[in-house]
Amino acid sequence: MSPKNKNHQRDPQIGQLIIDTTNFYTEGVGREGISRAELAGQTTVFEQAQRHVLKGSHAGLDAEYAALNLAREMPAQIPQIRAMASDVRRHRDVLVIGIGGSSLGAKALQQALVPQPPIAGTPRLHFVENIDPYFLQRLLSSLDAESTALLCISKSGGTIETVVQYLILRDWLSRQLGNESARRHQWIITDPKNGWLRELAVREGLPSLPVPPRVGGRYSVLSAVGLVPLAVLGVDIEALLQGAADNAARCANADVTSNPALEIAALCVLLDTRRSKRTAVMMPYINRLQLFVDWYCQLWAESLGKWDRARPGSTPAGTLPVRAMGAVDQHSQLQMYLESRHDKFFTFIELETHEYDLPVPLDDFDAPHFPFLKGRSMAEVIDAEFRATRQVITDAGHPNMTIRLPALNAHVLGQLIDLYQRTTIYAGLLYGINPLDQPSVEIGKRLAIDYLRGTPR
Ligand code: PA5
Repeated sequence: MSPKNKNHQRDPQIGQLIIDTTNFYTEGVGREGISRAELAGQTTVFEQAQRHVLKGSHAGLDAEYAALNLAREMPAQIPQIRAMASDVRRHRDVLVIGIGGSSLGAKALQQALVPQPPIAGTPRLHFVENIDPYFLQRLLSSLDAESTALLCISKSGGTIETVVQYLILRDWLSRQLGNESARRHQWIITDPKNGWLRELAVREGLPSLPVPPRVGGRYSVLSAVGLVPLAVLGVDIEALLQGAADNAARCANADVTSNPALEIAALCVLLDTRRSKRTAVMMPYINRLQLFVDWYCQLWAESLGKWDRARPGSTPAGTLPVRAMGAVDQHSQLQMYLESRHDKFFTFIELETHEYDLPVPLDDFDAPHFPFLKGRSMAEVIDAEFRATRQVITDAGHPNMTIRLPALNAHVLGQLIDLYQRTTIYAGLLYGINPLDQPSVEIGKRLAIDYLRGTPR
């Protein structure tokens, strides 16, 4: 068995993601994979994509791909982030009001990095994102206004779900505490100049931090959008940024063999365009990465699911991201993955070193029924499950890759975030679409407002 397991908690350790793309290639998975020659035939396209990314990353936070510079630029803003976080932390319950890119990243990293139940004294974070009166009512009935903070996050400062819930919560606070006191329970993260939320913060004198204007929602987890809630929870945000910076350094080359983000992007795009793989399944074997997959799904879908508007009639880009979890989906989705259409590729994520492990105890009655469990631990069982599933998927000819995390800590998650943000941007460029916009989502947002006005078309 390959994972190293320990029965005690392990010190955080700096380690690099181990990325194994062998089974995306013909040599790993046969004719459904991509050949090295096919990849080599695209060298000029990859060099162009790399030139575009380098050019678009030049001007720090003013750059087109400012998101890719956050790891380098945000350390200078850590004092302001920590100052806001330490004021927010004085409250027992923190309501993070935001949706999409304004919540998914912090939620994912909370699940991955913050021990449950939380260490005594850590505030309870509640993500108020979806519009659901039942949820909000139940949440309010469990809170004491005196010990509740509102952290309202919206890049545009006008997203309807966020605005509506903020207004309801602000009113609730004001009714309990009075307007003046309620103001001291509110913090804002939004565009530095534009939008209703920015105007409100200025008008009411609410403490606020900016979202860099060129960083879009789903690329913003390494800005104040993700860093403030994570600092409130005591996550090591410097290590997170360092992990992202280390991955950026690893992806500085135009050569796919030494730039994992470019290689993954190239393979995913070729699997779609040349092998008709339309579905991208991400399947971690780590419970704590369930919400990371949600973050990835939003990033991948909203960035890549579009067509090139400059070329009417062009083929729509993008593969549909699908959430899975090992080992539970072996008992749910796997049958379909194996026998239904060959239109999928898979990304497995496994953990090299488990912080805790539990031996499987067998007594005299159990042992003859499960002789293969003798001397085994839970981590060894999940590892065997993962290896078996990957093997059947490979044997059935489905392209797949594996990311092995050396540990589950802030530095490693920083690498993973940078890897996927970078891969997504490269993939957009290789498809010939803009990975930073979301034109059709904006149409839906406007139409919802028309419905509220009573004038839908
Ligand atoms: O990635 C995106 O741009 C979106 O998912 C946004 O994050 C989401 O719509 C919320 O927008 P805002 O942060 O402006 O409230």
